[in-house]
Amino acid sequence: MCGIVGAIAARNVVPVLVDGLKRLEYRGYDSAGVAVLAGDAIRRVRRVGRVAEMENAAAEESLQGQVGIGHTRWATHGGVTEPNAHPHVSFGKIAVVHNGIIENHEEQRERLKGLGYAFESQTDTEVIAHLVHHYYQAGDSLFDAVKRASRELTGAYAIGVIAVDRPDELVCARMGCPLLVGLGDGENFIASDVSAIVSATRRVIFLEEGDIGRLTRDGVELLDKDDQPAQRPVHVSDVSLASLELGPYSHFMQKEIHEQPKALSDTIDAVQDYGFNPELFGERAGEVLPKLEGVKILACGTSYYAGLTAKYWIETIAGVQCDVEIASEYRYRSAWANPNYLVTTISQSGETLDTMEALKYAKELGHRYALSICNVRESAIPRASELVFFTRAGAEIGVASTKAFTTQLVGLFALAVTLGKMRGKVSAADEARYLDELRHLPGSVQHALNLEPQIKAWADKFAAKDNALFLGRGLHFPIALEGALKLKEISYIHAEAYPAGELKHGPLALVDEDMPVVVIAPNDTLLEKVKSNMQEVRARGGELFVFADLDSHFSESDGVHVIRTPRHVGVLSPVVHAIPVQMLAYHVALARGTDVDKPRNLAKSVTVE
Ligand code: G6P
Repeated sequence: MCGIVGAIAARNVVPVLVDGLKRLEYRGYDSAGVAVLAGDAIRRVRRVGRVAEMENAAAEESLQGQVGIGHTRWATHGGVTEPNAHPHVSFGKIAVVHNGIIENHEEQRERLKGLGYAFESQTDTEVIAHLVHHYYQAGDSLFDAVKRASRELTGAYAIGVIAVDRPDELVCARMGCPLLVGLGDGENFIASDVSAIVSATRRVIFLEEGDIGRLTRDGVELLDKDDQPAQRPVHVSDVSLASLELGPYSHFMQKEIHEQPKALSDTIDAVQDYGFNPELFGERAGEVLPKLEGVKILACGTSYYAGLTAKYWIETIAGVQCDVEIASEYRYRSAWANPNYLVTTISQSGETLDTMEALKYAKELGHRYALSICNVRESAIPRASELVFFTRAGAEIGVASTKAFTTQLVGLFALAVTLGKMRGKVSAADEARYLDELRHLPGSVQHALNLEPQIKAWADKFAAKDNALFLGRGLHFPIALEGALKLKEISYIHAEAYPAGELKHGPLALVDEDMPVVVIAPNDTLLEKVKSNMQEVRARGGELFVFADLDSHFSESDGVHVIRTPRHVGVLSPVVHAIPVQMLAYHVALARGTDVDKPRNLAKSVTVE
């Protein structure tokens, strides 16, 4: 993971670097550092902890410079210590920040030790600093030294490099990890993502795999992976500053939960623009979708649960077989591949390494076409896919995914209906009804958000518990899984989810008065079955917390608490029921005083295995 930023300007860049790192903190937040050229030295400040602590230290030391690089870390190689924090410096001459993993670092480390280099950290990154130094002190330009060094690295990297006697340049390279160049007026920048530099410029170039860049104050030179000069298109980012600020909210997760009516409505607009037609998934979809014989979904974390929900829709509405698999498992097994199955990756960030590698593996196995459901334009996974549906959730900063999840569900639902329509399973009347249901979805989600005071009251009861069980059936089982994931990742309460019918095959043994059991129980075809499962819990003293809708006809009783959404919304009900489980996790985390937006040990963008 990790986030990197760099700047070359005619002003002090430390505030730009610090501001950028704060916006990149979602990528990793165990330590942070910056290095700048100050006179004839590289000055560096690093701290374990959040960017704010490093910022204070930089202020105390009056750190200033017009060329610099910064880093916020999520530890992979080496513990969370100051010596392991970036930037890494070689002989006081070269400073490097790095996002990614260098796979041949041990071999390079031995080689460099043989050349007289001493290592101060356990990181893989330090080999980059020494390797660049090795070529630089042998006479290469900084650019050539970075080029030679990076061509000797295997693995994934986005790097930024400065040299003590090169006050007029900043060099960067990219392979496997995101990196962009920001074009300012008499100043230029590098960053892992546009949010880091958007207050300085919106004009950006997304580097391609193997690109190496040299930035001066007035220009940018790029070489491609074959060492040929490269011209890359300049994009104007539409990321709004407001979307990156908290505004009136206490946490990004809270803000993002409340933004869902808007995020959904923006995403539904995309569906309305095209209708349930192949073009919704890109220019080539008209040629690809008629040929497909099945759908193979690959994803991680919350996105995987979106995939599990989609399976119900795709098989029921379109009558198309759909397999869903965790990307990190799929990529390492001898999977069966039907070339005519549409590989569908789901990823908020578009850069999750396991999902990206699973996609590459699927292609190696012979799958012809891939569809990416993604929230970030220009990210790696959609770029590697023939078909794309971009969700319009806006920037999601809280580590626990919320609005990205519900908008992914809209994209997947649209895929199911589109496939159904193409196969004659969805009539014109069905199509009109599905569109109408989609249009009403943001309103139903708003109703669910209005339940917050009741959910908050429940949260106090959960805060004192060590465990929780989530139950759902059919379409709502993935929402139970998502509820358990949300609760464990931000409140640190151990939570598990089961299809309610599976209770009697094991988890019922866990149920007693200390085990709150959350049940997702809207008025669908499985409601009566769920009610029986609830009785099994109640009979063992378990306390039930039921999310129902008006049509479920539940009443409160001793040990049975009920919160109702206004009405049942049919097949889109999982989207509505995602809201209360998100809010429950949020309020339990608040009651327990955890760091909601940056839960321990986690990061939003997981670009490591
Ligand atoms: C991390 C995040 C999760 C996310 C998962 C997959 O674990 O904390 O919120 O669901 O990665 O990320 P992706 O960007 O591929 O959806």
